[in-house]
Amino acid sequence: MCPLVFSVSNQKGGVGKTTTTVNVATALAALEKKVLIIDLDPQGNATVSLGRQRVSGGPNSYTVLTGRHTVADSIQQTDIPYLSLLPAGPELLGLDMELADVEKPQFFLKKAIESIDFDYVFIDCPPAVGLLTMNALVASNRVIIPVQCEYLALEGVADLMKTIERVKRNFNPDLMIQGIVMTMFDGRSNLSKSVVNDVRSFFKELVFETVIPRNVRIPEAPSHGKPVMLYDFRSVGAQNYIRLAGEILKREKEK
Ligand SMILES: Nc1ncnc2c1ncn2[C@@H]1O[C@H](COP(=O)(O)OP(=O)(O)OP(=O)(O)O)[C@@H](O)[C@H]1O
Ligand SMILES: [Mg+2]
Repeated sequence: MCPLVFSVSNQKGGVGKTTTTVNVATALAALEKKVLIIDLDPQGNATVSLGRQRVSGGPNSYTVLTGRHTVADSIQQTDIPYLSLLPAGPELLGLDMELADVEKPQFFLKKAIESIDFDYVFIDCPPAVGLLTMNALVASNRVIIPVQCEYLALEGVADLMKTIERVKRNFNPDLMIQGIVMTMFDGRSNLSKSVVNDVRSFFKELVFETVIPRNVRIPEAPSHGKPVMLYDFRSVGAQNYIRLAGEILKREKEK
């Protein structure tokens, strides 16, 4: 079965990419869909958030990208049924230079995941538009862009959109932006509200209806190696990520 592959990307750091990846993937796994998270960030935050270690030497996303291991040999079952992980390796940091002279270095991930058996794949991208993000976008059908509800929220998003267009033109005509998700919304802050209004008036229905509120349970969960849904199911953070996952599926059905 050919999985639907999502990149969760924004070159701006700390906007909620990893949190969105881990929690949307968990919500879909809870629906008994076979889901794989690929941690493509040298920081390995998705790996650690799922209670796993970033181990050098592999097998991990680095050794898969460089052809040393197959995806099938490298994925780990997480503690969550139906959810698997391809963990990050710290060596990802040097990949740009290592593959600089290799032919078509943008296609490594696409080739590596060609024949895997999953319903959904979520790729947690690093906060940069380098070779790793290029590999993610070339291997993906959809992009989800988390945008933080704060000053300069859209900084970098225009660049990301240009990169997506370039990837679409040159390598992957099927690539589509699935949606923009506003994160860390603070209902008491006028700034948060005006950022959401501005982003909505600019990007219209590309922005998901679900807005992820700032919620203390979300940063607590990774230190327990759990998605927020398992750490505190009733929290507003968990509930809104479940809603977001539902909205993502709904958009897919409407296509
Ligand atoms: N809705 C939220 N409420 C409160 N804290 C949040 C929320 N979403 C994310 N955070 C916290 O904000 C920090 C950044 O989030 P996250 O790691 O998901 O961003 P990122 O875009 O993946 O960062 P990076 O660019 O470094 O990979 C983390 O400590 C996370 O726990
Ligand atoms: Mg991250």
